[in-house]
Amino acid sequence: MRILSGVQPSGTLHIGNYLGMMKPALEMQDKGETFLFIADYHSLTSTPEPALLRSRVEEVALDFLSCGINPEKTVFFRQSSVPEVTELTWILNCLTPMGLLERCHSYKDKLNNGFSPNAGLFDYPVLMASDILAYNSDIVPVGKDQKQHLEVTCEIARKFNNRYGDILTIPKESIREDVAVVPGLDGRKMSKSYDNTIEIFGNEKKIRKKFNKIVTDSKELDDVKDPETCSVFDLFKLFANEAQQAELAAMYRAGGMGYGVAKKALFELFWETLRTSRERRDELVNNMDYVRQILDRSGEKARAVAAETLDKVRFATGLR
Ligand code: ADP
Ligand code: TRP
Repeated sequence: MRILSGVQPSGTLHIGNYLGMMKPALEMQDKGETFLFIADYHSLTSTPEPALLRSRVEEVALDFLSCGINPEKTVFFRQSSVPEVTELTWILNCLTPMGLLERCHSYKDKLNNGFSPNAGLFDYPVLMASDILAYNSDIVPVGKDQKQHLEVTCEIARKFNNRYGDILTIPKESIREDVAVVPGLDGRKMSKSYDNTIEIFGNEKKIRKKFNKIVTDSKELDDVKDPETCSVFDLFKLFANEAQQAELAAMYRAGGMGYGVAKKALFELFWETLRTSRERRDELVNNMDYVRQILDRSGEKARAVAAETLDKVRFATGLR
């Protein structure tokens, strides 16, 4: 069974990325052969500065390795180390209806937010389909917002197989419902595009300040509070065990606890959870050659797999 996921190097990783994608992907390492890549081709649709793209790729690589990617088990690589996926994208483009892409939320949202779309942005889902299909992926762990892209992938793969024979593996999505949408500082989905994120690595003071900014209702200190409608508690649940959750929920319901206390408990639990990763990151940042070596070596492995798929695809489509 092959598990595959990708992450765009589009900024510092936040708790939403960590819980929605990174942690499930890391847990999958023990369940099958895992491929994980940094989607730098995808990032070109929105990050045209070369130096910025380069540094973001390295930051994401550091983040993932620090959080527990085992490079012996997981093939961890740069998307662009495998140019075969762009060839597959072209081939799949030629059987993808425009209407299918026009319906994609990610594209529609960007349009609505005033981006003037380039062709790459429109074609984003087909590149993503190629990422998945080039490696015969069985399972794709992602956040809920990627569900539609996975559906598009399956539809394209079925179209291909109907026309050219049973060549591409139809993947299954894996979306953890409990962390499907991690709330951000303002209670909306945590996302770089809403500027409501809490980064997983960085300066302690700055991150602590972010936790203090989480929006709550305006109940007084003595008031009884409802953990079920509070973003602070929602985030706490994602890091805490059952006993810790029950204890904090009881404090909410008893009254006499200010939100500052809950925020402090949340920060401390978060900080402790990522302690080992933080220490590992401090070591790795001084050893970037090692990080680059991992990406390069894994890129070669991934490329060999994609090359096999492309051989079959070229033959089936009449390109050979
Ligand atoms: P952003 O919305 O900040 O731009 P990305 O779109 O780059 O984040 O998402 C990278 C991965 O993290 C995707 O698999 C996505 O589904 C997941 N993810 C991002 N934000 C969240 C969130 N708030 N809750 C759960 N998963 C998320
Ligand atoms: N589109 C995904 C995101 O923004 C990243 C991605 C690119 C991806 N290719 C993929 C995820 C293939 C899973 C599988 O999060």
